[in-house]
Amino acid sequence: MSASTTTGIPPGTLRILIVDDETIVRDSLAAWFRQDGHQVDVAEGGKDALRLVSANRYEMAFLDIKMPGMDGLELQSRLAAADPELSIVLMTAYASVETAVKAMKNGAYDYIVKPFDPDDLSMLVKRAAEHRSLRAENIRLKKSIDTAAPPPLLGASPAMQHVVDLVATVSASDSTVLITGESGTGKEVVARAIHAASSRRYNPMVVVNCGALPEGILESELFGHEAGAFTGARARHKGKFESAEGGTVFLDEIGEVSPKVQVELLRVLEEKVVTRLGGTTPVPVDFRIISATNRDLRAALKEGSFREDLYWRLNVVHVHIPPLRERPEDVPVLAEQFLAKFAQSMSRKPMRFSPEALDALAAYPWPGNVRELQNAIERAVVVGRNEVVRAEDLPLRVTQAPAGGPGPGSLAEAERAHVLSVLDASGWNITRAARVLDVDRVTLYNKIRKYELKKPENGA
Ligand SMILES: Nc1ncnc2c1ncn2[C@@H]1O[C@H](COP(=O)(O)OP(=O)(O)OP(=O)(O)O)[C@@H](O)[C@H]1O
Ligand SMILES: [Mg+2]
Repeated sequence: MSASTTTGIPPGTLRILIVDDETIVRDSLAAWFRQDGHQVDVAEGGKDALRLVSANRYEMAFLDIKMPGMDGLELQSRLAAADPELSIVLMTAYASVETAVKAMKNGAYDYIVKPFDPDDLSMLVKRAAEHRSLRAENIRLKKSIDTAAPPPLLGASPAMQHVVDLVATVSASDSTVLITGESGTGKEVVARAIHAASSRRYNPMVVVNCGALPEGILESELFGHEAGAFTGARARHKGKFESAEGGTVFLDEIGEVSPKVQVELLRVLEEKVVTRLGGTTPVPVDFRIISATNRDLRAALKEGSFREDLYWRLNVVHVHIPPLRERPEDVPVLAEQFLAKFAQSMSRKPMRFSPEALDALAAYPWPGNVRELQNAIERAVVVGRNEVVRAEDLPLRVTQAPAGGPGPGSLAEAERAHVLSVLDASGWNITRAARVLDVDRVTLYNKIRKYELKKPENGA
């Protein structure tokens, strides 16, 4: 990794600008650096140098301190303003410590005293190149750590506090975790929080959505394949277990995995090796498994559609996230956070809720859980015209939920009416209705069954 990778010049090569009023100094330095493989431009004074820097990119500049017109120190500060990334070296004919100290204080990379030893110059440039590439690497690492920082796990309810405690406990261990909860309750957020707090945090967390992929593709995603393992497998492909090396594999929608893949997963969990499709040699893998499901796996066990041995392997620690309607204390906490987040990301002034808007948020049963709440707040920030979010800025379904507070009976009724109205509005297009409701299709089918909803005969 070199500082120059983004600009397409060979690693270790720098673009160097030399500024000196003496031709002989300019030319001999240029010739020496070119011999070392660097790209060199020369300027005879400050004006020339500034023009070149505004037109080209340089990694390094050598400035003579004593020049007629603009001196080296003034040029230094103007170049640094034009390109803060530039590594500047000042050159002086007299070992004037005072000037050198001033240059270093102003952020110079180094200073050198004439006459120069060519080998020292080469060393200096080599060190600067390494320094730059280390700095670039640092920035890259820092970015990857920052982006790996999970969204905070918010919640004021006892139920969420329990989840937060569990996350802290299991992060310290390497045990397998099964996260259950309805769609949009925050299963992935919890998985990311566990990974980020664990000793595996500097290694990847890879996510596999087991429900979204047909069996063959899921197998190749998970375990990888060798070239020629099947039609279209042109090159060897590493599976997610291998890519997660040292990190965490998050198996989302684990309840959707076919019996065949269940057997294969069990083997990988027990033996900690994977064999790529079409391969013969088992590859050792180091991973932690977190899996999640919005299905009732115990029912699946009874039915026989989910293996008991795999279930117990996955369910060493169980984290259940209750639906948002069962933890109404979390609604205002989450809503305030989302409001602050969206207002900031849309460059709006800080915003707050009107009392009516807060009442409506509290009374609504949130069938789509935290995700639906988040979407509603995002929408309110988009449509709201001033610093106060009014009830009118919330989606209609939220403000039209029956008043009287969330009792279990009224909740079910509200949910039933809501689901039915969305289904009718979408002409019973399940995919579209599921998207509007922010649930997956399986959840929607379950609700249709639960509430015995029927498509109107005339087609609505
Ligand atoms: N406790 C929480 N604090 C902050 N944000 C949350 C919390 N719970 C959920 N969210 C946010 O709500 C959204 C949905 O969460 P997430 O994707 O983790 O849900 P999920 O349970 O995995 O849903 P699905 O079953 O549909 O995959 C995300 O944008 C997430 O950041
Ligand atoms: Mg999810």
